[in-house]
Amino acid sequence: MRAARVIRLDGPDAIEVAEVDEPSGDGVVVEVHAAGAAFPDALLTRGLYQYRPEPPFVLGAEIAGVVRSAPDNAHVKAGDRVVGLTMLSGGMAEVAILQPDRVFKLPDNVSFEAGAGLLFNDLTVYFALTVRGRLAQGETVLVHGAAGGIGTSTLRLASLLGASRSIAVVSTEEKADVATAAGATDVVLADGFKDAVKELTGGRGVDVVLDPVGGDRFTDSLRSLAPGGRLLVVGFTGGDIPTVKVNRLLLNNIDVVGVGWGAWTATHPNALAEQWAGLEKLLSSGRLAAPNPEVYPLEQAAAAVASLENRTAKGKVVVRVRD
Ligand SMILES: NC(=O)c1ccc[n+]([C@@H]2O[C@H](COP(=O)([O-])OP(=O)(O)OC[C@H]3O[C@@H](n4cnc5c(N)ncnc54)[C@H](OP(=O)(O)O)[C@@H]3O)[C@@H](O)[C@H]2O)c1
Repeated sequence: MRAARVIRLDGPDAIEVAEVDEPSGDGVVVEVHAAGAAFPDALLTRGLYQYRPEPPFVLGAEIAGVVRSAPDNAHVKAGDRVVGLTMLSGGMAEVAILQPDRVFKLPDNVSFEAGAGLLFNDLTVYFALTVRGRLAQGETVLVHGAAGGIGTSTLRLASLLGASRSIAVVSTEEKADVATAAGATDVVLADGFKDAVKELTGGRGVDVVLDPVGGDRFTDSLRSLAPGGRLLVVGFTGGDIPTVKVNRLLLNNIDVVGVGWGAWTATHPNALAEQWAGLEKLLSSGRLAAPNPEVYPLEQAAAAVASLENRTAKGKVVVRVRD
């Protein structure tokens, strides 16, 4: 089969598309049509993610495709259109084998390419806003990196989960258009976002900040929270891991809340199925628009992952594995 493998740990250029043996083992065997690319894939190509497989390894944490075979006790069967999580490698290949509890039926109204860009971000954001963020009806949400995978997912989901307003923070005007298309009610540039948010909210600030970026904007994110607000720590694409001066928390009764979706699903056996049930209802009813990803052919998997590292990606990035 064809697969995108990381053969060295020196960045996206070390992704090579080659003929390799099909995987073997127990589980649901899926003929992969498309695979999602996410920021952790870029980190994996440099050995900088918390999970560090030895090269060569096949990249790809999330897939969409058709079941070739499934164990008798699985809830999917041969021929089903599915999405699934590899947790965290093996997806950018023509065939992948997944644990049955990480495979879900793809609603008929969602394409393979949109489906491949769904699970990783939408399940994280669903968990972040509902469980960790305690988002209540009518509250306001601000999201950093808003034209990225987690960012566009937040903008697609926030209003359906109760938000009355979702403010997108982006680095360029071009990315502002991506955020608006994903559902932002307001878009502000990263440079000077705190003052822009104060003005937009009449000085009150926002109830929830969802932050996949971290770095030097963190303190201004805390200053952008309304009394009782929550800052959700999701990732550090900006590079630096910020520190918190805890006096800021008591001054305005605010929370800084960690969001570790993978760790939560590992310790809460029913969490994945419950999160998917919530998401599937929204998708199949058409209330939640599927992602509208930038699609690269498998042969250009290295460029797909590089676009995440060099910050040029607009929206979710997906690799097409079969036509
Ligand atoms: N905690 C969890 O459970 C969980 C789950 C999934 C993902 N994550 C994390 O969430 C983060 C975002 O993932 P993603 O797939 O959404 O990434 P992505 O699609 O690449 O988007 C990240 C955004 O970060 C911004 N950014 C700011 N500084 C950057 C820099 N130096 N390099 C690259 N991007 C930069 C960019 O927006 P601007 O250019 O507009 O600033 C970019 O759109 C990652 O750190 C990932 O590991 C965490």
